[in-house]
Amino acid sequence: MEARSFEDVLEGWDGIGAVVRYDRPSGTWIFVALHDDTRGRPVGGCRMKVYETPAAGLLDATRLARGMTHKWASIDFDFGGGKAVLAVPHPMEGEARAGLLRRFGRFLNTLQGAYATGEDMGTTPEDMRVIAGETEWVMGVSRDDPEPPADPGPFTALGVLAGIEAAMAHLDGGAGLEGTSVLIQGAGDVGAPLARLLADAGARVLVADLDEERAAAVAGEVGGEVVAPEAVYATECHVFAPCAVGAVLNRSTIPLLRCRIVAGSANNQLEEDEDAERLRERGILYAPDYVVNAGGAMAFGLINKGLTAREEIEARVRRLGESLTEIFAEADRGEETPLAAARRKVEAMLAGASGAG
Ligand code: PHE
Repeated sequence: MEARSFEDVLEGWDGIGAVVRYDRPSGTWIFVALHDDTRGRPVGGCRMKVYETPAAGLLDATRLARGMTHKWASIDFDFGGGKAVLAVPHPMEGEARAGLLRRFGRFLNTLQGAYATGEDMGTTPEDMRVIAGETEWVMGVSRDDPEPPADPGPFTALGVLAGIEAAMAHLDGGAGLEGTSVLIQGAGDVGAPLARLLADAGARVLVADLDEERAAAVAGEVGGEVVAPEAVYATECHVFAPCAVGAVLNRSTIPLLRCRIVAGSANNQLEEDEDAERLRERGILYAPDYVVNAGGAMAFGLINKGLTAREEIEARVRRLGESLTEIFAEADRGEETPLAAARRKVEAMLAGASGAG
């Protein structure tokens, strides 16, 4: 995960390219990474975050864009993989934030539709409304929309719930989530609604967040328990749900895990592909991140096509559980990791015709 320079990052990446802008008024590096356009226009969220170096922000953008290629193909939507990163020098609020978002929106206009954005970690539905004031290249919001913009988080959470149910059923034959313990890392836009859905399904919820107050608030609301951030990996649970940053599954954390399943919403959970094998060797069932976390992207893809009925969108998102059931079964048959099974499906989609949506 070391990113030394822009050259290193881009030479070591298999994407189309990246567009870089330094936003002088805010001191922000803006990166738009375009990974693949085989199936359509690159679309993916916009992450706002403080990084150690600009190159680390570019690296994140390229990895996230690649994840979007896989995500759209795995759910058969005709979009390509792209992502934007706003690498801010410090957290931005108020007019400084709005100004940056407006300039970002106008920057997207200069790309003339080569990429469309949406919400991601560090940005909000309200931010998308600000961007939409300047450009049409933002998913699910338009300038004159009277409705408040939708939040992808709860849809992503619903897909993760379906994925956890599918994983438990794969191991135990479908007894439901009553009594299942799920440790959620990150009580944010996905982690919090996921905690509520799990508690409603009878699961025992454990919550960790770097912001311990936030963890306590969510745990309190659902009758769950707080786990200290540094204790996450070694805490015993049935399901570990990473719902924060990426690369949390790696050669140092995997040996510590005391769970049977990993299924969560974070993008790029594996530090490297070999970590899927490490999990398998430990007998831990891994739900490939870009499949189990596709609910938010799917919901926005459907909204973009004009579907507005919430129940219908939710029904589609829930079916991610069935995709995972197939992936787990296929991985068992091929004595391979679920990641390898999912990847084969993605490669076939990319080699074949464009998506049906
Ligand atoms: N940020 C979402 C993800 O990582 C993708 C997304 C795309 C969300 C478009 C909203 C709109 O899956």
